[in-house]
Amino acid sequence: MNHPTGISEIFETMEYGPAPETDQPVLEWLARHGGAFGLYVGGRWVPGQDGRSFDVINPATRATLTRVLQAGAADVNAAVAAARAALPAWAGLAGHARARYLYALARAVQKHSRLLAVLESLDNGKSIRETRDIDVPLVARHFYHHAGWAQLLETEFAGYGPAGVVGQIIPWNFPLLMVAWKVAPALAAGCTIVLKPAEFTPLTALAFAELAHAAGLPSGVLNVITGDGETGKLLVEHPDVDKIAFTGSTEVGRHIRQATAGTGKKLSLELGGKSPFIVFEDADLDSVVEGVVDAIWFNQGQVCCAGSRLLVQEGVAAPLIGKLRARMEKLRVGSPLDKAVDMGAIVAPVQLERIRGLVEKGVEEGAQMWQPSWACPTDGYFYPPTLFTDVAPSATIAQVEIFGPVLVSMTFRTPAEAVALANNTLFGLAASVWTENINLALDIAPKIKAGVVWVNCTNLFDAAAGFGGYRESGFGREGGREGMWEYLKPAWEANAERGTRNEPAATVPRSAFPVPRSGEVPEIDRTPKLFIGGKQVRPDQAYSRQIVGPDGQVVGEVGEGNRKDIRNAVEAAHAAAGWAQATGHVRAQILYYIAENLAPRQAEFAARIAAMTGGGADAARQEVEAAIARLFTYAAWADKWDGAVHQTPVRGVTLAMNEPIGVVGVACPADYPLLGFVSLVAPLVATGNTVVVVPSEPAPLSATDLYSVLETSDLPAGVINIVTGATDTLAQVLAEHLDVDGMWYCGAVGGKAVELASAGNMKRTWVEAPSHRRDWRDPRQGEGREFLRRATQVKNIWIPYGE
Ligand code: NAI
Repeated sequence: MNHPTGISEIFETMEYGPAPETDQPVLEWLARHGGAFGLYVGGRWVPGQDGRSFDVINPATRATLTRVLQAGAADVNAAVAAARAALPAWAGLAGHARARYLYALARAVQKHSRLLAVLESLDNGKSIRETRDIDVPLVARHFYHHAGWAQLLETEFAGYGPAGVVGQIIPWNFPLLMVAWKVAPALAAGCTIVLKPAEFTPLTALAFAELAHAAGLPSGVLNVITGDGETGKLLVEHPDVDKIAFTGSTEVGRHIRQATAGTGKKLSLELGGKSPFIVFEDADLDSVVEGVVDAIWFNQGQVCCAGSRLLVQEGVAAPLIGKLRARMEKLRVGSPLDKAVDMGAIVAPVQLERIRGLVEKGVEEGAQMWQPSWACPTDGYFYPPTLFTDVAPSATIAQVEIFGPVLVSMTFRTPAEAVALANNTLFGLAASVWTENINLALDIAPKIKAGVVWVNCTNLFDAAAGFGGYRESGFGREGGREGMWEYLKPAWEANAERGTRNEPAATVPRSAFPVPRSGEVPEIDRTPKLFIGGKQVRPDQAYSRQIVGPDGQVVGEVGEGNRKDIRNAVEAAHAAAGWAQATGHVRAQILYYIAENLAPRQAEFAARIAAMTGGGADAARQEVEAAIARLFTYAAWADKWDGAVHQTPVRGVTLAMNEPIGVVGVACPADYPLLGFVSLVAPLVATGNTVVVVPSEPAPLSATDLYSVLETSDLPAGVINIVTGATDTLAQVLAEHLDVDGMWYCGAVGGKAVELASAGNMKRTWVEAPSHRRDWRDPRQGEGREFLRRATQVKNIWIPYGE
């Protein structure tokens, strides 16, 4: 390229000269390692036991930077063993001591920030402008922020302890930033770590291990092993890992959900996205153009929350597309080490091919493709900024995550249409909303199913605000208080004991049909039906199941629900979605009303519990009392489960709003037929979810007795639906159902099946590990914030302000 020399010429072309950053210090650093890296295990650099290794390539030049090891099973075992051995001492440190280490890591990152920025740029192909000004400063910020959580842990997370040994698997698009997002909260919580960076970009994770070593982090607290998906799989499947944290593709996330099903491992998944970027007619279009540049051309579009679907209100579509093309024409693609370059290289040939293939598909499917007139450099893996118009909402390029610099645009007429288009995706990671009308922005933000909504801004991140998705974008949050929970577990779980239980009897009845208890005239039959959409309805198949007391006598019969009944119940629960908009006050009133209507019938409910469980009259009476108290607890919480305003470094506010999960399936524990039911259903309903509940299989009559209580308590139809029958069969149907958003399972044996089936639409599951044996009577175990947190997901809404 010829660069202008005269001043007038420069004003005319606005062309920059090259401003290259030197790679010399990084090449020297690589050379000092002798052209190859070991694995960082137990505080030492060790050779791989597997013997395999692979090249690390600079995607902007195709040059080989170094070689790293492919960790095999023995290496993964060694790393997990080192993390396990280091756990007691690290978890046992005072919060302040861990805070000192995190602070030291933050300082180390800052002191070596240029080395890290250049190394990241060489390894990934992203521009130095981004690594220097965004990635690395955010990394330091993350460690400072979490030094704070370590310091405050004992008071702010009282009653919680570390999750244990965590396996962390990260992608290649923000290699060092993802190290920070994973490692900082885990260290703060007292966990020890085995981290596996992505195969394309392992170098900054290795550099970080070196910095952590120099900072004196105790041996085995952080272990870094390199390798591809095979190594990741070994880590996921390792039996001595207590938690897996993963960021990457939805496809691999789904495999990990399946691989961890039934193991009791904690899991957080940050997966793909197809985030909408919504522009209303009154938006400031020049700001919008710069927003789009940041949304889809930042990091070459290889961003999970990239604003990859531009949704424009019809009236401004033509001028906006015109402005965008003019801006695209001026974007600069080239050497990532040139400080004046906007876009660097694509990470690897396979990703470049994937982008090319999807763009071809877009053209084949009839969309209009536009690219700037200039050509990309040919010495590396570059791809030009690309814009599609005339895209059908169902087109492949409108649905699939391209993970490249490709924007697809569509138009809408009304705000309702914008919301429908925005939510027309299986993902739910992020969204941007552009309008000068704050009322409109704040009306739209809660309607979009996404974990982050940026108002008149995009791609803002901070350690103080949680980041994570809805739907198939995964679950769990990273950053802020909400992210800390992912690395903690209730202290009681560690030493859960089997409490005294009033186990229901499993005695076989003498007769296959109910026998009247006394007298010769049969009682009028009161076989309860199912409770769906506010009505008592007959089960689809005309089968009933007998409920047998501990004395072998039949206590009653209930309907045998099946797949079709669950389907109807899920439909009814969806139809009641307006419950989410009811105010906390209204939800509280209804929960109080249920308690009020239950109280006068205490003796009747207690007698029923005693007959079903044989646990004695006193225990039964106490159970009803506890259930009434629990209803009060969640009535109390209904208008108090506040969100937060996070202290992010923007001029504005970041609102963290607790939103309901949606339609949640509940499989109740076998014991505590009333208290177990109320303990699970009340927090879900208090927070705006609608539920389909399978009550205790051996003792369902306390739930069916509740029908009349619910009918007289102003509960809107469809908010609570009850289907009696075989717990595991029905739970399986709920877990498979693609319109069920969450599943809480307290059965005995079906937890694995539920977690496996949940991978279909990545529903949020809560499966009680059979070893925990939660004591429902103990308020510390049976109620409170843990339940409310599980019943909601946090949406962070960023609202900058000022002229
Ligand atoms: P990937 O999901 O395969 O890789 C992410 C990480 O998971 C890497 O460290 C990889 O080694 C590891 N991994 C792969 N298979 C695994 C397994 N079975 N068990 C455990 N760990 C495993 O992503 P990949 O192949 O690099 O990219 C493919 C597509 O995924 C991209 O084109 C993009 O669409 C999407 N992607 C999305 C990301 C996001 O943040 N949303 C990040 C990276 C990729």
